[in-house]
Amino acid sequence: MKILVATEKAFAPVAIAQIREVTEAAGYKLALLENYKNISELLTAVSDADGMIVRSDMVTSEVLVAAKKLKIVVRAGAGYDNLDLPTCTAHKVVAMNTPGQNSNAVAELAFEMMLYQARGGFSGKSGSELRGKTIGIHAFGNVGKYVAEIAKGFGMDVYAYDPFVNEDDIKRSGVKVCKNAEVLYSKCQYVSLHMPANDKTKKSIGYDLLKKMPKDAVIVNTARKEVIDEDGLLKIFEERPDFRYLSDVEPDCKTLFEEKYKGRFIFTAKKMGAQTEEANINAGVAAARQIVDYFKTGSEKFKVNK
Ligand code: 3PG
Repeated sequence: MKILVATEKAFAPVAIAQIREVTEAAGYKLALLENYKNISELLTAVSDADGMIVRSDMVTSEVLVAAKKLKIVVRAGAGYDNLDLPTCTAHKVVAMNTPGQNSNAVAELAFEMMLYQARGGFSGKSGSELRGKTIGIHAFGNVGKYVAEIAKGFGMDVYAYDPFVNEDDIKRSGVKVCKNAEVLYSKCQYVSLHMPANDKTKKSIGYDLLKKMPKDAVIVNTARKEVIDEDGLLKIFEERPDFRYLSDVEPDCKTLFEEKYKGRFIFTAKKMGAQTEEANINAGVAAARQIVDYFKTGSEKFKVNK
């Protein structure tokens, strides 16, 4: 039985060592395809794999056609917008994610970006503090909850909006509930995004919401670049010199930002939110265990396809 770890952005070596322990203890062979540059490398590596662990790697129908023996693919992470779920189902491949395992790392990155921006990129100029500022958490899932916890530690005034989470659960976390996104954006100087990318959320954060934000507005996006309507973002940037955008990965309109809005944005070149040893271990080992459990016991916990 071959388990392939296919990661265009590699896990930390310490995580790979623990993934190997779990898979080899179960009697399986671990194969690594790390930092690959070309899809053809993935197509070859997956051709005889029974199980596969990926990160944001695209598991397209081309990959699934090449994966003749594949029975399970686990996205070591939360968002599974990179998996072609209908094709997984058509090929009888179980698709899973590992929710919550890398959430703290993502939440910490949101604050790392906020702090760096608030202190003017450590330029020596007078900056600002987070204490006493309003922060709105848009979607109160695993990452949103960590963001709330850290924000309270910084003495921020914390609000959240999530139509899928019970209001009492949000209140129990010591966070004020907003009835809708409009209220959240109107109240909060900082808004941190934590929704998945899907048909409903893609391009859902646009000009109408952004224009409601108070002075010195900062959008922090450690979710997916696709949830932002970039035309709306560019429009608000043109109108409001006080507006900032901090994003874990570059938007498609990055060149325009570089030309026109220097100092008002931070974009990571590669998605960095989950790129810590701890998150790699948590998500990678959880993925390996889920594969072993699936083969040994048939457990389909965390299955995301029908
Ligand atoms: C996730 O959805 O879990 C994060 O975006 C992490 O993605 P990565 O594993 O590609 O860093």
